[in-house]
Amino acid sequence: MSENHEREVWESRFGLIMAMAGNAIGLGNFLRFPVQAASNGGGAFMIPYFIAFLLVGIPMMWVEWSIGRYGGKHGHGTMPGILNRLWRHPLAKYIGVLGIAAPVAFAIYYSYVQSWTLAYSFFSLTGVYSGITNQADMGVFLSSFQGMTTSQYFSSISTAYIFFIINLSIVFWVLVRGVVKGIETLAKYAMPLLMVFAVILVFRVLTLGTPDPAFPERSVMNGFAWIWNPDLSRLSDGSVWLAAAGQIFFSLGIGIGSMQCYASYLRAKDDIALTGLTTSMSNGFAEVVLGSSIAIPVAVAFFGISATEAIANAGAYDLSFQSMPLILQQLPVGRIIGTLWFGLLFFAGITSTVALTQPPMAFLQDEMGWSRKKSAAAVVTFLFLFGNFVVFFIGHGVINEFDFWVGTVGLVVFSLVEIIIFAWIFGMENAWAEITEGAAIKVPRIFYYMIKYVTPVSLAVLLVIWIYQAGFDLILLRDANEVDVPYLLATRGIILFLIVLGGVLVHHASKKWKA
Ligand code: ALA
Repeated sequence: MSENHEREVWESRFGLIMAMAGNAIGLGNFLRFPVQAASNGGGAFMIPYFIAFLLVGIPMMWVEWSIGRYGGKHGHGTMPGILNRLWRHPLAKYIGVLGIAAPVAFAIYYSYVQSWTLAYSFFSLTGVYSGITNQADMGVFLSSFQGMTTSQYFSSISTAYIFFIINLSIVFWVLVRGVVKGIETLAKYAMPLLMVFAVILVFRVLTLGTPDPAFPERSVMNGFAWIWNPDLSRLSDGSVWLAAAGQIFFSLGIGIGSMQCYASYLRAKDDIALTGLTTSMSNGFAEVVLGSSIAIPVAVAFFGISATEAIANAGAYDLSFQSMPLILQQLPVGRIIGTLWFGLLFFAGITSTVALTQPPMAFLQDEMGWSRKKSAAAVVTFLFLFGNFVVFFIGHGVINEFDFWVGTVGLVVFSLVEIIIFAWIFGMENAWAEITEGAAIKVPRIFYYMIKYVTPVSLAVLLVIWIYQAGFDLILLRDANEVDVPYLLATRGIILFLIVLGGVLVHHASKKWKA
């Protein structure tokens, strides 16, 4: 690409904030967070959560926005080109490949899960699952929808497959329209709607009281008490700290490559400090206030604490797709309430899926000189092809395997490399100048030292403890079922393939940079 290539810029400040919030706020806020909080010490979880937010979340958000805006100034929206500018070393651009391969791998499974939210909002509205009154049947409904079994509800995977394709078509449509007309417009509608849906749902949950007087302990208030009751003894457990930090990464969307990519569409002198902080705060609000006030309290009100605990331990998806449809249809106008819940998840998810697909889009456009249409067609075809692997082998744990490498380990590793290059190789003086350039607020000087020392050290400590505590078992697949191992290895093969392919393309594209 020529470095004078015309790149889009966000049209309005409101649109920018909505797009960035859409990037961060996703399924992680509404599904992953309440389950993580409830199963990691409740209120006590918030202590490591806020510490991680302060020590890693906010600094990394500023770092990624600065890196992105800096890249945009030089015509690069993706990490290979940006890191190559920050660090004039032949290795830098290849490290940057992770900033394209990771979001693609992330999007492969995330977009499929996200397509279920579209399907379920349709099911709720049209009453497809109304009449199912117990957890077990709802489980059969879900697993036959996913093609893992057959039932009277679904005899094949075709319904899920149709929604998978519809969802990818929507993603294609947004990408083809571009950053301003596609992503910014989508976010300007989706995010306010999401907020309205969330507020209606929270209001509905708060006014539920005790739905069944025969079980006075099953109340919304007990649900809140259960999430927030601090079990301080859990703070000595390293895994609680890791879970909190992991949640911050996943939910803010840092360490992937998509925040930097969105920030590359800022103008050279646009503020980063205040808008980056606003994005982090709105993500936190959506998560801590709204995310924790819907699924768990409502599950406690209907099933009681021990059943909810079992559901939460079974994972975020069970809570959302198995328990919530069951509960919500018991409410007056339950079909509408269910549609709002899945509609909310759909808006949260699609704005994040689009954010994950923008780095490969930007790479093809900026570095390979491809048109927007050709890039969008290539990216979506890719998601479709590899998505089939997830669609058909979901029963072998491939989603968890992707999520482990990309959504858990990858985020921390990439953040660590990125902050070292930015603060130590590009240099903290330069980095600070980038962060504070055009700042609409005064960034406290303490963040200079945090970004230079505290954040990288926290990330390194996190990684070492994590590898020591859980990493080896997961890496060596010690707990995996033997029959699943080939599929889990194939998942790793796909991730490796994406990295190698990215490396080859970057090698090719970088020849033009030298010229
Ligand atoms: N940040 C996105 C989420 O929370 C990935 O779902």
